[in-house]
Parts: sequence; C-alpha cells; structure tokens
Amino acid sequence: MSKYLITSALPYANGPIHFGHIAGAYLPADIFTRFLRQNGEDALYICGTDEHGVAITIGAEKAGVPYQQYVDGHHKTIKAFFDKLNIRFDHFSRTTLPEHFPLCQEFFLDLHKKGFIKPAVEAQFFCVKCNRFLADRYVTGACPKCGAGEVRGDECTKCGEWLEPSKIIAPSCKVCGSVPEIRKVTQYFLDLTAFAPRLKEWLGAKTDWKPNVRNKALSMIEEGLVQRSITRELTWGVPVPLPEAKGKVLYVWFDAPIGYISATMEWAKLKGEPEAWKDWWQNKDSKLIHFIGKDNIIFHTIIWPAMLMGQDKPWILPDNVPGNEFYNLENRKFSKSEGWYIDTDDFFSKYSVDALRYAIASNGPETADSQFLWEDFAARNNELADTLGNLVNRCFSFMKKNFDGKIPAAGELKPEDRALLDGMAPAFEETGAFYRSYKVRQAVSRAMALAMAANKYVNDTAPWTLRKTDIVRCATVLNVASRAIINAAVLLYPVIPDTALKILAKAGLPPGDKPPDFKPYEPSLDNMALGEDSSLLFAKILPEQVKAEVEKLKAMGEAAQAK
Ligand code: MF3
Ligand code: ZN
Repeated sequence: MSKYLITSALPYANGPIHFGHIAGAYLPADIFTRFLRQNGEDALYICGTDEHGVAITIGAEKAGVPYQQYVDGHHKTIKAFFDKLNIRFDHFSRTTLPEHFPLCQEFFLDLHKKGFIKPAVEAQFFCVKCNRFLADRYVTGACPKCGAGEVRGDECTKCGEWLEPSKIIAPSCKVCGSVPEIRKVTQYFLDLTAFAPRLKEWLGAKTDWKPNVRNKALSMIEEGLVQRSITRELTWGVPVPLPEAKGKVLYVWFDAPIGYISATMEWAKLKGEPEAWKDWWQNKDSKLIHFIGKDNIIFHTIIWPAMLMGQDKPWILPDNVPGNEFYNLENRKFSKSEGWYIDTDDFFSKYSVDALRYAIASNGPETADSQFLWEDFAARNNELADTLGNLVNRCFSFMKKNFDGKIPAAGELKPEDRALLDGMAPAFEETGAFYRSYKVRQAVSRAMALAMAANKYVNDTAPWTLRKTDIVRCATVLNVASRAIINAAVLLYPVIPDTALKILAKAGLPPGDKPPDFKPYEPSLDNMALGEDSSLLFAKILPEQVKAEVEKLKAMGEAAQAK
C-alpha cells in the first residue's frame, strides 16, 4: 500500500507570512493530509523554515541583529501563525539545525563525484565600497529577459526567470547604491544539461499533474537547460565541502529543498527511530507530494529532481507538485511594507479560523490567481453561518427542547427521507475524488451541497409544525437530518476541522483519537444523547464590518505611501 510524504514550501525566516502564502502552499497541503488520514492512509506532513540566503542576510543587516537571532525570531512567529491557522505539520523544522548541514554537503559531494557539479570561473559583481561580492539580492537592476526594473540578482520577480547575478542590466549595490565592478571568481555549477532527457521523460509521464506546473517545466527544458551556479561568496549558509572552496557557501536554493529530508530525519530522531526517514524518502511505495506556489515550480520540477536523480542513492522523485497561483488582497499583492496586509491578531480577535480556512479553500488560487476580498470573506462566513451553523443549531436545540436532549428514533422512511439518505454515498465519493486530485474548491462546494440539501429537507418537512401534528414523523425527520449533519461535518473536516469536531461532539459522538472516517456514518442514531455544548458555531459578519475593514486597509495603504 502506498503512503504519502507531503511537504509545503519552506517559508523564508524573513518576515511574517500572510494569508497569500497560506492559500498557495499550506492550507491545500493541510487539507490533503487530513483527508488522507480520514481514509486511514499513512501520511507524513513535513515543513520548516528556510533560513539561509541573501533575503535573510539583508533583512538581518537592516534590522541590525545577528543572522541567527534574526531567523530564530521569524521561525517562532511563523510557527505560531501556522498553529493559529490549524496547519498541522508532523514536524516543522529549520534549515539551520545540525542535521541539515552534513546532508547538504553529502548531496554536493555525491553530485560532484559523479561529475554533475563542476567549477568554472564566472564574472561577478563586486562592490568596492562595501568590499564584497554582490550575491543575489545584494545587486539590483533590470531583468535581462523581460526588462522589468528593480529585480533581484537571482530571480526576476516579474517574469520568474532564474537569473545569473552577473547578467543584470544597469546594476547597483543594494546596500550602498554604488555601481559595482566585475571581478572573476570561481563558482560551482550544477550541470542541468546532463539531466534534460531524463527529466523530459519523467515529466512526460506526469499526465495527471496540473497543466500549468507541467507545461512550465517542459517549456523550460524546451528552451534549453544550462549550467546553474550553486555556490556563493557569503558567510551565512552551508559551507561548500571542498578545501579549495573556502569562503563559499551553497546557494540557498540548493540547500533549501534538502531541508525536506533533513526535517524528516529530525522527525525520525525525535520519535526515537532515527532510521525511519528512509522509509519515506527511499521507499518506492512512498509518494512525495510538494505543495508550492507558482514561483517555485522550476525548483521543484527541474532542479530538485535533478539533484535527486544524479545520485546513486535510492531517492524517490516527486509524485506530484501541486503548484498554485497567487492569492492577493483586495486587488493588490499582500505587502507589509506597503501597508497592504491584514493584522492577524486583530483578525482572529474578531473572526473564526475555520471561516478563514473555508473562505480560502472555496476560492483558492488553484488554476488562476485569486484573492481575499473582505466582502467575499463575509459572504463565505455567512454561508457557513446560514447553512451549516443554522442547520445544526435549529435541529439540535429543537431536539434538546422537545426530545429530552436525544436524537429521536426514526419511524418509517418516506421517499424524501430516502432521497436525502441516498445522497450520502455519492457525496462522499465525489467530494473524496476532488480532495484527492487537489481540487479543494470543488470538494468544498460538493460537500456544502449536502449541507444545503439537508437545509432544504428540514425547511420542506418543517419538523416544528410536525411536532404538533405528527410526532413520529417529526422524530423521523430529525433523525434523518442529524445523519446528514454528521456526514456534512465529516465531509468538511479537512477544511474546517475544529468546527467539524465540534459538530460531532454536539451530536453526542464521543471524541475519537483519530479524525472521523471519510465515509457515511453508519451506526444507528436512535436515542443518542446530544452533547452538552449548545454554543453557536458562527457569528454573522455584517456589511458595516466589511466596510470598516476595507476602509482600515485603505487607510493603512495610504499611510504607508505617505511615508
Ligand atoms: N523559501 C522559498 C520561498 O519562500 C521556498 C523554498 S522551498 C524549498 O520561495 F524547497 F526549497 F524548500
Ligand atoms: Zn555597496
């Protein structure tokens, strides 16, 4: 039986992350993992912070704190944010931990020994004033491919091209602004050309991948793979393990994906089974799934697989790379420096985590960019309140009052009861197929269709009226409705786990030690005592609130601009 090793892109320990990141690489992975566990499948969900690279050294220098202290702080903040959002990794590690360095060096040496990594002399920018080589983001200028200005030295933020730092047009030093000179220096290059045929064949067979991901990778091969430099003149990072390469570290994009493995090693060690990581990384029955944003496609579909292919060790290759598009905020990119963001403490003091998860999941950037709109968030929240929350509340409080706090036994079933009950199995089948194929938006709407059908059923059968005219029929309706409620909660568990568990507890089901099985609930509900909790699940968000939030955002954006 296969098992799933699930990862989300390691976020840079370089600042707080926001809902945009969550929508792209984390919530979809958390949902997928939860769904697999509901199916009794073996799954391991690994992540951690990416703590090297020039984005971080520049950030720390600006903040005036030592690099390690800088990443320590951001690691903590990021972890707390994931906890808040109920993104449940099996392990959340860091690339500055001890396991990571020797493994990266082993990767380098293996590939070097096999001839896939070679030294070459390269022209590099050197800032005379700062007295250093300007790796990656220390240099800025225009993109040689698309012409966009103010790009960073290693990646064009506009067209996504991976740039060789020395190719930047009209360069300047990011720190002091002076025009750098060119100096020759030896760097090490990963020879991607050697992998082109294998990568092409491997990607060619991945017909079940998202077209945007696969096409991007294939077109990059089509354009021609080249040698990519994977070392830098920096002091922060994993030292290049060759005596002649003193003062050089591995490029952050070489070390970061190896972090997936070192994090798994750390997980195994903490579990007291230090070899257990092999069962995930070197086991052909293990399926490796990388959840990422679209800016990371090339690294996960070309460079990282090449790094794995180029060794004699039995590494598995990614089974799928569900890459998502971008998620913006009110028609602009999330940006803390531009005042265009949502203060999370403030947000969660007013709104529910599950409402947010539901809103993002319903409108995730799966095939095109999408965005957080306050109005949409309120609508989704209210949809949960009106459909699920209201259904649960109406039925359960009615049974509390009129049936002694129990789900009454069902009498003879009528066609409308059967129709609702017969809809359960297909709801699970179809919703499950969507979750399994990374179509969370469709999974959510299919699952909600069941809650809506149950609502309609309750409206049409009107148990409140039946109570006076036909108590047996009334009992039957509530029994059937309770089953639909339980099943809707189980279907939506991956997206709104806390709420789903709350609903099951309200229905009187004992808390399990594992997530609820992904299948229609079978046992009889007759005379089951409902749970104690009768709190409301969701509070509605009013139009005034939406207006106030949008105004606050605009004011923040303007204030940042004035500055
Ligand atoms: N830190 C990178 C980013 O935020 C992602 C690294 S993913 C990994 O874009 F594979 F390298 F780990
Ligand atoms: Zn300078």
